[in-house]
Amino acid sequence: MEVNLKSIAISSFGCSEIDREHEVFLDILNRIDYVYTHDLDHEIRRDLMVELYKFLDFHFQSEENLMRIFDFPYSDEHKLDHERLRHLLADIIGVSNMDMVDLSELKDFVNIWITEHISSLDGKLIQHLMKMKSEE
Ligand SMILES: [Fe+2]
Ligand SMILES: [Fe+2]
Repeated sequence: MEVNLKSIAISSFGCSEIDREHEVFLDILNRIDYVYTHDLDHEIRRDLMVELYKFLDFHFQSEENLMRIFDFPYSDEHKLDHERLRHLLADIIGVSNMDMVDLSELKDFVNIWITEHISSLDGKLIQHLMKMKSEE
């Protein structure tokens, strides 16, 4: 699927919790790519899409909890973007045809929206977290 997520998520930051979750997200995408490329059965495709959505949802919640714990000043803007991305992914995955997702749409979602979110909004959050941790 050729996603650019890895270099952005791993090289730019150095906040272990968030970087690790971004890596897991990338692993799930790579598994999806494998399953589609090898034309594996529909049940696996559907279950991977469920995993992808649930993981993204978990990851967003995890960042939002960190924002509250560490008093992040831009949390409203960040949470709104999470909500937008949840809806976008839900639209791409669909409900009844979760095993027939258009991979080019998923690829665009990751390469455009997710990488943009990570490099801008997550970057700001991570800077804040690193600063708070260095002052502990
Ligand atoms: Fe985020
Ligand atoms: Fe993130």
